[in-house]
Amino acid sequence: MSHQGANEERLVETLSTIKRKYVVLSGKGGVGKSTVAVNLAVGLALKGMKTGLLDTDLHGPSVPKMLGLENFMSSGDETHLEPAVRYDGNLKVMSIQFLLQNLHDSVIWRGPLKHSVISQFIGHTIWGDLDFLIIDSPPGTGDEPLSVVQVAKPDGAIIVTTPQDVATFDVRKSIDFCNKLSLPVVGVIENMSGFICPHCNKETAIFSTGGGMKMADEFGIPFLGSIPIDPQFVIHSDKGNAMIDLSTGGKSIEAIRSIIQKIE
Ligand SMILES: Nc1ncnc2c1ncn2[C@@H]1O[C@H](COP(=O)(O)OP(=O)(O)OP(=O)(O)O)[C@@H](O)[C@H]1O
Ligand SMILES: [Mg+2]
Repeated sequence: MSHQGANEERLVETLSTIKRKYVVLSGKGGVGKSTVAVNLAVGLALKGMKTGLLDTDLHGPSVPKMLGLENFMSSGDETHLEPAVRYDGNLKVMSIQFLLQNLHDSVIWRGPLKHSVISQFIGHTIWGDLDFLIIDSPPGTGDEPLSVVQVAKPDGAIIVTTPQDVATFDVRKSIDFCNKLSLPVVGVIENMSGFICPHCNKETAIFSTGGGMKMADEFGIPFLGSIPIDPQFVIHSDKGNAMIDLSTGGKSIEAIRSIIQKIE
């Protein structure tokens, strides 16, 4: 069998062992895609689901840092990539960061090379049987999400936006991307939706509120929930911990839990 034939066979075999695949998308950068992907994946793993988390952001991989895995090096070879394993084996993570020689190496690649790496990540990572594969993406509708859709054939897209028009304007393009590629939209998450002052308890709509819900209504797609601005996200992700893993409650953790209930 040709090398390509063997790769394709392997990919089909791997995909058949993954029950559900969701890709996290947004036409806008910095709206919280990686934060959402990490917290959904860890939340599912904490519930005992076999979960994979694939970081397809090749130029700015944030998932490793957010999980304290930035120094993890994947062993294995071109056809068997070892993921980082956490949460009693329930969470398996793969990222380009795990293949870089040095912590701050950059990746300078064009589309075809990105496509082949994303395809290897999906097909050649030792995922084992998975209930869920959550796929984080870079912003926009470029090479990486297109390769994910073509190779992984996800069951659906989870769209993340912040509430203001400047964000939803770009994020509408992600919904159009899904429609053009016949990728179902699971729903929209409005992140950074309002801020409750810890001193006076007054809520301030720093990036406005309701833009995500309005967009979901307009397109007739489900609205999955709003996550408030919470400085704890920044503190914990900088330390390599997922918020959802904290024992304390709080509105933002409740919001993530409720989103998980809608997708599981
Ligand atoms: N609800 C929130 N409240 C406060 N900070 C948040 C919230 N969501 C995300 N952040 C912080 O905002 C920053 C950007 O988030 P994140 O990296 O998840 O965005 P992204 O959409 O993945 O960005 P990129 O487009 O670069 O991939 C991070 O420092 C993260 O900790
Ligand atoms: Mg990101």
